[in-house]
Amino acid sequence: MRLKARNSGALKGRVRPPGDKSISHRAVILGALAEGETVIEGLLGAEDVKCTMAAAALFGAGVEQRSDGRWTVAGAGGFSQPTETIDCGNSGTAVRLLMGAASGYKLSARFDGDQSLRRRPMNRVIAPLSQMGARFDSTQNRLPVIVHGAQLKGITYRSPVSSAQVKSAVLLAGLQAEGETVVVEPERSRDHTERMLEVFGADIDTVEVDGAQHPRVRASKLKSASIYVPADPSSAAFPAAAALICPKSEVRLSDVLVNPLRLGLFETLLEMGATLSFEERRDPIGEPIADLVVRSGPLVGVTPPIKRAPAMIDEFPILAVVAAFAKGETRITGASELRVKESDRITQMVEGLKACGVEAEELPDGMIVHGDGPKSVKGGAHIRTNGDHRVAMSFLVLGLASKEPVTVDDADMIATSFPGFADLMRSLGADITAL
Ligand code: S3P
Repeated sequence: MRLKARNSGALKGRVRPPGDKSISHRAVILGALAEGETVIEGLLGAEDVKCTMAAAALFGAGVEQRSDGRWTVAGAGGFSQPTETIDCGNSGTAVRLLMGAASGYKLSARFDGDQSLRRRPMNRVIAPLSQMGARFDSTQNRLPVIVHGAQLKGITYRSPVSSAQVKSAVLLAGLQAEGETVVVEPERSRDHTERMLEVFGADIDTVEVDGAQHPRVRASKLKSASIYVPADPSSAAFPAAAALICPKSEVRLSDVLVNPLRLGLFETLLEMGATLSFEERRDPIGEPIADLVVRSGPLVGVTPPIKRAPAMIDEFPILAVVAAFAKGETRITGASELRVKESDRITQMVEGLKACGVEAEELPDGMIVHGDGPKSVKGGAHIRTNGDHRVAMSFLVLGLASKEPVTVDDADMIATSFPGFADLMRSLGADITAL
């Protein structure tokens, strides 16, 4: 389906964005590894998470939705031999975390995914999991990959990239390994796996390596748990950005996860002069939550520090859009990981911005966006998303504040992370229509 976004004027209202994708994947996987029934409230019903649920069932768990909307995962205390290929669709998190979790069991599992996932690098998990003792069959470390589980041994893995998917794959394998497993990463990535492993009773703590704390796990049996999934800050980013760039807007996004390792975009927006605040902070489940209140106003270009990249890795596309409506230059660097996401998000965003009349240039590890303030963006482009959900949502948000409408060629992919995106945006006053 194609969607068109038109200049919408002020956005107003209060909405709850859908459940956090990272936490949803982990709740299902840990529930499947644990013994007993895990109950999950607020699970994200997106395509990516459905892949993880189907995989959990193939690895031997019972996955069901209760009449009150909560999901239950009846874990068998480990993974068993699947009878079919594990199809991870578009989801890097599903495939990488599940490969790690499966590596320590006596099974051979074939993993595959869609065209986008088949292009993405899997060596980043195959390398450490091989060091631990698992074996892999693949062509050039791309999907399809067959994982042959084995008795694993713990390692200290110095990851060359700050990636929560890599860290989580190794830690999940470590649950079945002899000795201890430590992951050292250049900058800290999101820590939902570590937090949730604690809730499921794993033997996990931190250890100092090179002057910083890093997660360490030992062989553990997990106990089922009750998990609450807050709203996803990476999804909240889209209505928040729309409220910033559509004049006279005021939007309240409720129940948003405010884990500091996910807040890089909001820190950056504050530095750009955004009027946004976190209200009613609470911490019911080992993950902090707050309401996010956003008002439109003038913004200036910024250079976010390189160290912040992991805390906003999924938000660079929408930051690039906001930067187009700010005054001055926004320089994004240290973000070469964007080239191996669902699409090459550096090329995709720069080309799309240029098509919308914005001055932008590619850097090997980022981009420069020359913003000319509110009401400066022409729009009027037809964006080819290459099946990338966040590229699609970013350009639809741009179209809400540009002079001419913006269309995207494939809005179906948005359901991989943000089902109901167009309806939620419309409920705030956004003019988004199907073509
Ligand atoms: C995720 C980690 C990030 C992020 C992805 C979700 C996770 O990927 O981009 O959307 O849930 O662990 P990387 O670990 O590859 O940076």
